[in-house]
Amino acid sequence: MTEDERYMMRCLQLAQMGAGYTSPNPMVGAVIVHNGEIIGEGYHRKYGEAHAEVNAIKSVADKSLLSEATLYVNLEPCSHWGKTPPCADLIVKHRLKKCVIANRDINPKVNGGGIKKLTDNGIEVVCGVLEEEARFVNRRFFTNHTKGRPYVIIKYAKSRDGYLAPSKGNEWISNEAMRVWVHKQRMEEDAIMAGYNTIVKDNPRLDVRHYYGNNPTRVVWDRNLSLDRSLNVLDNSRRTIVFNLEKDAVEGMNTYVRINEKDGVEEQILGRLFDHGIRSLIIEGGRKTIEGFLSKGLWDQANIITGKKMFHSGIKAPGIPNGFSHSYTIGEDILEFYYNE
Ligand SMILES: NC(=O)c1ccc[n+]([C@@H]2O[C@H](COP(=O)([O-])OP(=O)(O)OC[C@H]3O[C@@H](n4cnc5c(N)ncnc54)[C@H](OP(=O)(O)O)[C@@H]3O)[C@@H](O)[C@H]2O)c1
Repeated sequence: MTEDERYMMRCLQLAQMGAGYTSPNPMVGAVIVHNGEIIGEGYHRKYGEAHAEVNAIKSVADKSLLSEATLYVNLEPCSHWGKTPPCADLIVKHRLKKCVIANRDINPKVNGGGIKKLTDNGIEVVCGVLEEEARFVNRRFFTNHTKGRPYVIIKYAKSRDGYLAPSKGNEWISNEAMRVWVHKQRMEEDAIMAGYNTIVKDNPRLDVRHYYGNNPTRVVWDRNLSLDRSLNVLDNSRRTIVFNLEKDAVEGMNTYVRINEKDGVEEQILGRLFDHGIRSLIIEGGRKTIEGFLSKGLWDQANIITGKKMFHSGIKAPGIPNGFSHSYTIGEDILEFYYNE
């Protein structure tokens, strides 16, 4: 690993400390190096708050060193006014010597504008260091811009013999440590969806009670608005988007969005969620709901848990068509990751 790659790796570590708080912005970390020593660090902590470069520059005690220093940042510094002033202007103001970047910002408001501002002002720019790794960290952001829809994660747990649920009743499949991991995953996404039958049968809360952070917006597809108002998902305790064929309305924390069945339910759910500012969606079963998105290729990642129980019969888990990447074990449970190729 080169020196540039080592510092960029640190940027990516810092960037991911913002997981769950920066959407719709990407996760960004910045490191400032002077004579082989890190003299400043920062990351984008929360949407609407300071960008990584601002926090890194602020953290440098002796600002006179900046003109001899290199700034490492995993995304091209912005060149436009958004919720905060352009970072490229700040870098120019402090006369940093060099800027090393992982990814160009494909947001049309930036798209090379930040790099141009730096080079026009005599700052040396190197682009593309750990480009692939950084793109992976910000896979939600890049998917949003390239596909114009939320990043979609399929998640389910299956028994060791491949069932989502037993024929009768219901049983937990994953162990307690895995449940904590699942809730951590939930807090990193903007929204969470479960199928109609799952909501009726399991009455899930779809929250992050075993972890901390923001609860995702709940999403349901309730064709004829027949879900009972006493179900947890409709308890008005937090934002829930109810797709249906009947009405558009806002009632307390519940937003009803009318779609039609002829233009594709899954396509419209993703399109309308994007319009409502949702940049990532985790879909936690059941089988038919997951198969609807899988069959249309409308997925980006799948997190599949295999527990140690055997059910012998029941609802078979859907197969993930491609893209196995890697797996971990947590206790006796197996966690597999797939990425749609
Ligand atoms: N192990 C896990 O990780 C996990 C996770 C979640 C759920 N589950 C289990 O999966 C099972 C449920 O899966 P599932 O495949 O039966 O169903 P599902 O995916 O939860 O729900 C979708 C199904 O609900 C039907 N539905 C009925 N009335 C509807 C309405 N008014 N609006 C929208 N959809 C309606 C849909 O019918 P149409 O086809 O007619 O649209 C569709 O078949 C449960 O046993 C649950 O416990 C397991």
